[in-house]
Amino acid sequence: MSDAPSHPTLDDALRPLAMRLRAARRVVALTGAGVSAESGLRTFRGGDDTLLPPDMRALWAEFDPTTLATPEAFEADPERVSRWYDWRRLGCLAAEPNPGHLALARLERELATRGGTCTILTQNVDRLHQRAGSVDVVELHGTILVWRCTRTGQRVTPEPTPMPAFPAPSPFAPGALLRPDVVWFGEMLPEDALARAAEVSTECDVFLSLGTSAMVYPAAGFVRLAASHGAFTGEINLDATPASGGVDVSVRAKTGQAMPRLVELAFGAG
Ligand code: OAD
Repeated sequence: MSDAPSHPTLDDALRPLAMRLRAARRVVALTGAGVSAESGLRTFRGGDDTLLPPDMRALWAEFDPTTLATPEAFEADPERVSRWYDWRRLGCLAAEPNPGHLALARLERELATRGGTCTILTQNVDRLHQRAGSVDVVELHGTILVWRCTRTGQRVTPEPTPMPAFPAPSPFAPGALLRPDVVWFGEMLPEDALARAAEVSTECDVFLSLGTSAMVYPAAGFVRLAASHGAFTGEINLDATPASGGVDVSVRAKTGQAMPRLVELAFGAG
């Protein structure tokens, strides 16, 4: 016997969540920019990074979202907004899924072999979940890899090279432009994504909130919706968030470290 104080380890913190996952049939994971941070993609908020050079800070610490991520910003300066989104698009294409994405894909497979499901509600526009092998992915904020015509809404997947012109003319309607197929501040989320997210949140046994600052609605509201319908709720995030106090288990960790361990605790080594 030792008198040394015992420090809760990551495993200790994850075990109650792992137990719930093992028994669950329907799991929902809401993911945010923190899940892609270990792929080298910058988050929008979070962390005390004032000592970092601007190009390593959270995006909204270096850039003003009102001049880049609104329909009004695009109307006022389509060249600047298109350039910025194209720069981010190329960053997403160059990034690789990290162990957090891969663990979520494994979680979906493990649950499927037991007749269960794992639906990812992602706020990320990078498509790294799909590239990691997740199939049931709901893109709440669209994707930056696809652009659409400002007049007809027709979609196109640009080449994996910089756009030839800024702003990019639409090939579908003379005089119209292409814009990224993402949701900007002040815009509605895609109706089908919103409906599916509400449905799976109401029906799930376990709801995980992963790498999201839980500040942007309606996405941030799904964890409470799930809890109010009886789901066990867990959060894994580097920092405390407005969701932390309301979930059953809140773990301070990187998702790239915690998610593989969580799935291993629940289902054994892969
Ligand atoms: P945020 O950038 O707001 O939050 C990312 C969260 O992840 C922060 O709480 C970080 O502390 C945390 N974090 C960072 N690295 C992590 C890691 N390795 N593991 C776990 N957590 C980590 O991103 P979102 O919540 O996704 O919308 O932001 C929501 C929306 O706000 C985005 O979709 C975007 C943004 O403005 C639009 O552009 C419309």
